[in-house]
Amino acid sequence: MDDISITSKPDEASGTLTHSPALPNTRKVYVKTYGCQMNVYDSQRMTDSLAAEGYSPTDTADDADLVLINTCHIREKASEKLYSALGRLRKMKDARAKEGRELTVGVAGCVAQAEGDEITRRAPVVDLVVGPQTYHRLPQALARVRQGERVVETEYAIEDKFDHLPAPAIEQTRSRGVTAFVTVQEGCDKFCTFCVVPYTRGSEISRPVAQIVREAEKLAEAGVRELTLLGQNVNAWHGEGADGREWGLGELLYRLAEIPGIARLRYVTSHPRDMDDTLINAHRDLPMLMPYLHLPVQSGSDRILKAMNRKHSGADYLRLIDRIRSARSDIALSGDFIVGFPGETEEDFEATMQIVRDVTYAAAYSFKYSPRPGTPGADMENHVEEAVKDDRLQRLQSLLSEQQYAFQRSLIGKSMDVLIEKAGRLPGQMVGRSPWLQPVIIDVHGDRIGDIIHVRIIDTGTNSLIGVREMNSASNGTITG
Ligand code: 5AD
Ligand code: SF4
Repeated sequence: MDDISITSKPDEASGTLTHSPALPNTRKVYVKTYGCQMNVYDSQRMTDSLAAEGYSPTDTADDADLVLINTCHIREKASEKLYSALGRLRKMKDARAKEGRELTVGVAGCVAQAEGDEITRRAPVVDLVVGPQTYHRLPQALARVRQGERVVETEYAIEDKFDHLPAPAIEQTRSRGVTAFVTVQEGCDKFCTFCVVPYTRGSEISRPVAQIVREAEKLAEAGVRELTLLGQNVNAWHGEGADGREWGLGELLYRLAEIPGIARLRYVTSHPRDMDDTLINAHRDLPMLMPYLHLPVQSGSDRILKAMNRKHSGADYLRLIDRIRSARSDIALSGDFIVGFPGETEEDFEATMQIVRDVTYAAAYSFKYSPRPGTPGADMENHVEEAVKDDRLQRLQSLLSEQQYAFQRSLIGKSMDVLIEKAGRLPGQMVGRSPWLQPVIIDVHGDRIGDIIHVRIIDTGTNSLIGVREMNSASNGTITG
């Protein structure tokens, strides 16, 4: 959060700064987003609800009337970073006060939920604190701030926040591009012993089918081609289907696949325990369900998996991967790993390395264990020394990067569909997305953003692929405006 006081571009994780067509004489909001894709989605929805209040988005704190920091609490240093960002905002607010200008400062997201009142106590610059379940009350909270109150809104809402959030204007959706997130599920009941999510996001809730379908249809009408369904435990989603039966995520995907205009579906993040047969079959039956699955295992050691309360063994995970690969042979896997969980021995760590060798990942995220206050892991004995964690992380990451690079090299010479997302950095270039999520750089041949074209991969960089358009490509739809 160190770039809060300067004119800043969104970082990789945020990608949230959005521009609706400028409304004259409106106030401006700068939303800085940290953390996961769900925070990106939440920031967009907060921006949408503020649009109705006359706020237009800006990409710098310097010309904002309202700065909202959407925080992440998943790993350490989140609150230290927040307080140093707030220190910089305090200077900005003081400088503004001398010019007779106001600056309202809000803190949202999981640190807001976890620390609540403590934030307003420690940081007088903060006018407003909203948790992930209460951000639909942002307009009312701001009205109270204007009356001179300092507002902390972190009580879990009884009402469904999604029922109270305005949909984005069609222009706003278009400005966000041809891919979009839709939160379908929130919270978690799994209680992995390292994880703060069940405490900050609360217990599992699933949005109703009709609400999700309506949101997806509106996105499609605005030109969105690819939907990524989000949830902390997205494959635990369930709800009453259009046929009156209880649906799981698999059935929901079959339904969303029927929406005209939507050409690609993805979902993230899944728990191995919730991969049911219908969901696996959806990978077999729906070509538009992209062959890429993020399925965290966290560790390869059964002893550590038990201590983590993961509710699956290494062998369960491997069997599951086999079933998924039998349903869709070209599926690529990504995962999350934690090294240095309390009590992890060299042998446990070796089991993690082994499961990585057994599965082979196309991409992965790996972290050193960091004790989160209030989680059972934090109170366990035998915490692993930092230097040991560093060493294990380095070994794991070098294996994972080798696998990622090997996966990308294996795509050279192959043809694939690429969804064009934006103009490239160099004139004449465009950037699209492969089915396996890598950016693909191609030369322009009259294609437009939103087109899906056939591309042959000719080379790979560290994170992106270089492709050439295959001339038998049939463009299957564009967005306009
Ligand atoms: N320490 C390290 N990594 C963590 N994660 C969640 N909590 C912790 C923690 N306390 C990682 C897990 C999870 C990902 C989102 O973040 O790997 O899947
Ligand atoms: Fe956290 Fe585990 Fe729930 Fe994932 S499944 S959000 S890691 S508690």
